[in-house]
Amino acid sequence: MLDKSNMDVYNKIISRRTIRKFNQTEIPVETLKKIVNAGRLAPSSGNLQPLEYFIAVDNSLREKIFSTLSWARYIKPEGDPQKDEKPVAYIIIMVNNKIANPAHFKYDVGASAENMIITALSEGIGCCWIASVNKSDLAEILQIPADHSIDCVLAFGYPLEDPVYENITMNGSIKYYKDSNGRLHVPKRKFEDIVHIDKFQ
Ligand SMILES: Cc1cc2nc3c(=O)[nH]c(=O)nc-3n(C[C@H](O)[C@H](O)[C@H](O)COP(=O)(O)O)c2cc1C
Repeated sequence: MLDKSNMDVYNKIISRRTIRKFNQTEIPVETLKKIVNAGRLAPSSGNLQPLEYFIAVDNSLREKIFSTLSWARYIKPEGDPQKDEKPVAYIIIMVNNKIANPAHFKYDVGASAENMIITALSEGIGCCWIASVNKSDLAEILQIPADHSIDCVLAFGYPLEDPVYENITMNGSIKYYKDSNGRLHVPKRKFEDIVHIDKFQ
């Protein structure tokens, strides 16, 4: 018997796409705290829990953060959010270097980020995970202490676009693109090309 609650999670996960255009409805801080709560409870290597989180909702802070981010490298500048499409909240993932194991903390970042993205999705909120960040500028803007470093930024808002994935072959391009209607297409390697069952073939 199929467990419908699991199926809902699965369907959400496979239909999730990166969102880079947002309507300007604010996200309640309580919802952002719920998202971070899902992030902080993610698996952590050695249970060290070296990650910390900065929630930014203030309008002028948002503008400053936006100026440190780089969007959609394959379709620049078409993929950049325009004036009324910018994220309405950010969660900055930071690493407390007094605690972190340098060889393992990236796993924690990945697990935590994806927990937050899926939780946001369940609230109807879209996200762009951004690693192309001017980290020194952002650390200055946010007044981050020297023993912490910024790893990446999650940009949130209610979606104004509906990207779709499509299958590519092993030799096809991985570059996402917009079609003539402005819809973003995200090529994904085909299941059969990357999954090996019992034998590498
Ligand atoms: C670690 C990481 C860093 C990323 N950095 C950026 C970024 O700096 N700017 C951006 O626009 N998208 C960024 N992305 C989003 C990817 O471009 C996106 O996940 C990819 O194109 C696949 O699309 P999908 O998320 O819709 O499946 C990043 C994703 C990951 C996982």
